Amino acid sequence: MNTLILTPEAMFQGDLLLVNPSFPHHPLPHPDLVTVADTDILLERRAAQALDSLMAAIGGWKEIVPVSGWRALEEQQAIWEDSLAENGLPFTQTYVAYPGHSEHQTGLAIDLGRRSASIDFIRPDFPYTGLCQTFRREMARYGLIQRYPAGKEEITGIGHEPWHFRYVGQPHAAIMEARGLTLEEYIAWLREFPYESCRYQEKNAIVSFLPGASDGPTILKRDSDLPCTISGNNVDGFIITEWRRAHG
Ligand code: DAL
Ligand code: ZN
Repeated sequence: MNTLILTPEAMFQGDLLLVNPSFPHHPLPHPDLVTVADTDILLERRAAQALDSLMAAIGGWKEIVPVSGWRALEEQQAIWEDSLAENGLPFTQTYVAYPGHSEHQTGLAIDLGRRSASIDFIRPDFPYTGLCQTFRREMARYGLIQRYPAGKEEITGIGHEPWHFRYVGQPHAAIMEARGLTLEEYIAWLREFPYESCRYQEKNAIVSFLPGASDGPTILKRDSDLPCTISGNNVDGFIITEWRRAHG
């Protein structure tokens, strides 16, 4: 029905970027960052809006504070070096992403802490009880996931981080939660659903993978006029999300 031309840079843009020890962050020239909860902490606009809606729904800001959102490469570098000096290499490798490989650099990740007199910047307290757990119970509906769960350390390359949340949008957060998938596993699983042949059918959405061309733009030949969002995966292609009806 229509043909879209996706530039090579588009593979490094969108809500489903996999940034981890293997895949570095590619900075956008003009990230769309906004402040969170009257602090100077910044997040990508869509992530901030999702977080705010969730917090409004559960009365979250009365007990929960944002601790760290978007980080420039230089800030990640400083956190890495400070932690290395203070805590040593094993701790730092477990809880601080190597500079250039932190998803905080995308503006799609937020560390949250339970409000208290002293909050640990690297490992804030965010227990599996009370309002913090209410946040976890509701987050998928707002497109948020807990990015570094216990038991998946070998897959994510990062220790269990109860405080670190990542915006991936809908329907992805709900699919990942229902299937117990980390972002690494989800990005791999989606390769089973090529746009051309076998899209994954959700209630309201259709999700598929389009491999990126290795040399130049990728062509997407759409066969429907359903509303559609496209995200690069920061690895090797694009995630195509088509909506059966307007969402919101
Ligand atoms: N704490 C996470 C892994 C980061 O530094 O990005
Ligand atoms: Zn974090």
